[in-house]
Amino acid sequence: MDKHLKLNSYCVKGGKRNESTKAHQLPLYLSSSFVMEDSQEAVDIFTGQKKGHVYSRYGNPTIDTVANKIAYLEGYDLKGETYGFLTSSGMSAITTLMMSTLQSGDAVLTQGNLYGGSTELLKKILSRMGVDTIFTNLQDLDAVEGIIKENGNIRLLYFETPANPTMACIDIEAINIVASRYDVPTAIDNTFCTPYLQRPLSMGTDYVIHSTTKYLNGHGNSIAGAIITANYEASRKIWETLKLNGSTCNPFDAWLLSNGMKTLAIRIDKHSSNAQSIAEYLSQHDKVTHVNYNGLPDHQDHEIAKKQMSQFGGMLSFTVVGGQAEALATIDRLQYCTHAPTLGDVDTLVLHPATSSHLNVDHSIREKNGITDGMVRVSVGIEDVDDLIADFEQALGQL
Ligand SMILES: Cc1ncc(COP(=O)(O)O)c(C=O)c1O
Repeated sequence: MDKHLKLNSYCVKGGKRNESTKAHQLPLYLSSSFVMEDSQEAVDIFTGQKKGHVYSRYGNPTIDTVANKIAYLEGYDLKGETYGFLTSSGMSAITTLMMSTLQSGDAVLTQGNLYGGSTELLKKILSRMGVDTIFTNLQDLDAVEGIIKENGNIRLLYFETPANPTMACIDIEAINIVASRYDVPTAIDNTFCTPYLQRPLSMGTDYVIHSTTKYLNGHGNSIAGAIITANYEASRKIWETLKLNGSTCNPFDAWLLSNGMKTLAIRIDKHSSNAQSIAEYLSQHDKVTHVNYNGLPDHQDHEIAKKQMSQFGGMLSFTVVGGQAEALATIDRLQYCTHAPTLGDVDTLVLHPATSSHLNVDHSIREKNGITDGMVRVSVGIEDVDDLIADFEQALGQL
């Protein structure tokens, strides 16, 4: 065909693709649509009789490969299939999950110490659409059961464990047993753990969501989310919702996520061992009044974490003597750790919850939940732990 084309047409459609070899690495399909061999194939694919890609908002080879990989990891202990979808962010995973499971008149039962964006979504957006939210302490299973019994309109129990920034844990198996007694579907945000540390589907959870922006990508260069379920019917509803709300992941972010996930296991091993060492170091420091790390035997939820996580992960928080001024001074004096409002990257990140992630939470509620003004949150990286401890040592030494 090329020979007969005018130069300007050749610019548009000319040139042979060299696809005679198989790429070793996952190819990046930056194509919004996919070519149909003939009209029959188009009919077969659109009517669902044949599998195939048609339009990247509906599905894309790069995106689907990564979604299936996360679904496989989350379903690692299950016999049957698991179904995964990549979304444009962690928030879009949560929004899509809510849109596909809830309708006006329904209610969500959840905890007060969710990721702030999730709380805002429920309070500001879902409420306008007629979906109520009931906040309670999900560690209190009798209270959970009482609330579900009293509110027949609860159609989703949504939770996080460990929760930011105190690392409070919820017993996944136990809460699922309570919810399933009343046919209430459950969903967990598994961002902090990833399926390498915690696989909630095997503990009876119906849906898992992720901000893959964090540990699954691990390199701080992609924003995306994921939704996984082992229920086929539920997966079809999620796919339909995602297709129509248009918050599908883009192929480049999926591709970056794919690269990051190759090193997930060794990264999380190192995040966990570094965090354990730093938590132990901080808990002995005379300028530190409290350390929240699930791997410390005196953490209030150490036993629950031990039961459901294979290691304790890379997230911790600690409170310094004094208050906000001392916490901010510690952060400013750190020379090697980075002050940034994210987590799960390969390098160590710190932030001050009271003036950032939890700024909009009332002071009294913060204090009640153990989020003190003197608290510093640390997403422990994979650097040499001696360098990290030296940095904390010099920063705390100046208090
Ligand atoms: C636990 C958790 N869930 C969800 C989100 C939202 O993810 P994203 O920023 O990818 O939308 C975040 C973001 O910080 C988070 O920490």
